[in-house]
Amino acid sequence: MSFANSTLTGSKPEQYAQLADQARALIAGEPDRIANAANLAALVYHSLPDLNWVGFYFHDGRELVVGPFQGLPACVRIALGKGVCGTAATTHQTQRVADVEAFPGHIACDAASRSELVVPLVQGDALIGVLDIDSPRVDRFDDADQHGIEAIARIFLESLQ
Ligand code: SME
Repeated sequence: MSFANSTLTGSKPEQYAQLADQARALIAGEPDRIANAANLAALVYHSLPDLNWVGFYFHDGRELVVGPFQGLPACVRIALGKGVCGTAATTHQTQRVADVEAFPGHIACDAASRSELVVPLVQGDALIGVLDIDSPRVDRFDDADQHGIEAIARIFLESLQ
């Protein structure tokens, strides 16, 4: 199999609709969470501009442990409630942080990260982990990015069933 990274076109919502189609096609019929997380991290990282880190943290029953990602090596374990990722994990709410330096307790894995979007991965009541996207640009993520990345997170969760 070879993957051609097709350029996204149109408005941001249109681009995210195309990205969601690519994500579904990429992981179709595959239930393995490592394989799907790896391919989705690569897809998002190489499709969207101004990102320096895209990846997954999985809940091991106690804390978050880094999973497949694209970008520089990252912090391995994050306690629930700590940093942007741990906050998304405990609140089950997407965290959209325009300026990470203004977020109390932000964990600086890559000093280049200036804004961050973290979507919790929750199935029923069970915390699976989080999908974390970082940008070197302050205020990189808007509503359209949040909805688009939340859709990618849903596609990932659906693939596990
Ligand atoms: N900045 C995150 C830690 C993970 S890295 O960005 C890859 C946080 O505060 O939770």
